[in-house]
Amino acid sequence: MTADHVLSTVRAEEDAQYEAGLRPRSLDDYIGQDRVRENLTVAVTATRNRGEALDHVLLYGPPGLGKTTLAHVIGNELRVPVRGTAGPVLEKPGDLAAILTNLKAREVLFIDEIHRMSPAIEEILYPAMEDYELDIVIGQGPSARSVKVPLQRFTLIGATTRAGLLTSPLRARFGIVHRLDFYAERDLVEIVTRSGRILGVPIDAAATAEIARRSRGTPRVANRLLRRVRDYAEVRADGAITLEVARNALTLLEVDEQGFDEADRRLLHAIIDKFGGGPVGLNSLAAAISEEKDAIEDIYEPYLIQAGFLDRTPRGRMATARAYDYFGLASPERHPRLL
Ligand SMILES: Nc1ncnc2c1ncn2[C@@H]1O[C@H](COP(=O)(O)OP(=O)(O)O)[C@@H](O)[C@H]1O
Ligand SMILES: [Mg+2]
Repeated sequence: MTADHVLSTVRAEEDAQYEAGLRPRSLDDYIGQDRVRENLTVAVTATRNRGEALDHVLLYGPPGLGKTTLAHVIGNELRVPVRGTAGPVLEKPGDLAAILTNLKAREVLFIDEIHRMSPAIEEILYPAMEDYELDIVIGQGPSARSVKVPLQRFTLIGATTRAGLLTSPLRARFGIVHRLDFYAERDLVEIVTRSGRILGVPIDAAATAEIARRSRGTPRVANRLLRRVRDYAEVRADGAITLEVARNALTLLEVDEQGFDEADRRLLHAIIDKFGGGPVGLNSLAAAISEEKDAIEDIYEPYLIQAGFLDRTPRGRMATARAYDYFGLASPERHPRLL
């Protein structure tokens, strides 16, 4: 474990509390993701007017883009409680059955990391989502019988970083499916401004823009950088965040102009240096930089691809010309037809 990893573990708890305070509560406060927001506004309003339960909702996209936040926003807008759990936490079918039978009409059940549910748990979910009933097997062997337990009409909101890992029968049972995208810089400016206001941090417009620009299109990163820059401003300056203070703090944090940190650089550099620019398979890459495959696919890659530094081809990952430029290296002559 690197010092960075240790620190980020220690800070995870702290960050979680801090994030909770910064979470938007209504669709109006939820910044960006305009298409998703508009679609949800229509669906929520219509459902509320009819007094029905909202259709099941699947939210997917890279971490930190606001899936959990949005699930709670939907609950608030529907004026119903949100019960939360997560795929890996649900171990026995009985756990899920207990949660489902306790749900009242129109309430929301939020399942985070829904791609990590076991098949046995998924089986319970199918009839629950489709027919609002549980199929429970009582007893064993020849005396076993199946009973149906009716459920209230509830709404399931599932969140996942990887929609591709969902089984198709599960995916098919969601009536509303939205992908969250990386945020535009102007949305991140708005998010940093809002967070600064909530935290009572004096920050000027240029510094706000700088933090927004280096946030990898991700609100969680924007809020985290703001918090670290605030620390720096308090210790090394007079507490106010100016452009100069922000730049110095980000340099100390090793977050560069692109918003890349040490892990991003290590990944790109390994592809160029150890694998001749690629294509390289995920397994080899993970081994070369001692990272989990999941972390590469969920956290690092999506942004590097969107920023144009990495290509995902059928034969593996490749560094783009932009990645070579970034390290000040000449990119090798490529003959795409011969690859
Ligand atoms: N659209 C948004 N507007 C403002 N802040 C947001 C938005 N989306 C996310 N955030 C902030 O980013 C943090 C991370 O969001 P979260 O919902 O936990 O992401 P995810 O569940 O997708 O990993 C939240 O605490 C929230 O403060
Ligand atoms: Mg989440």
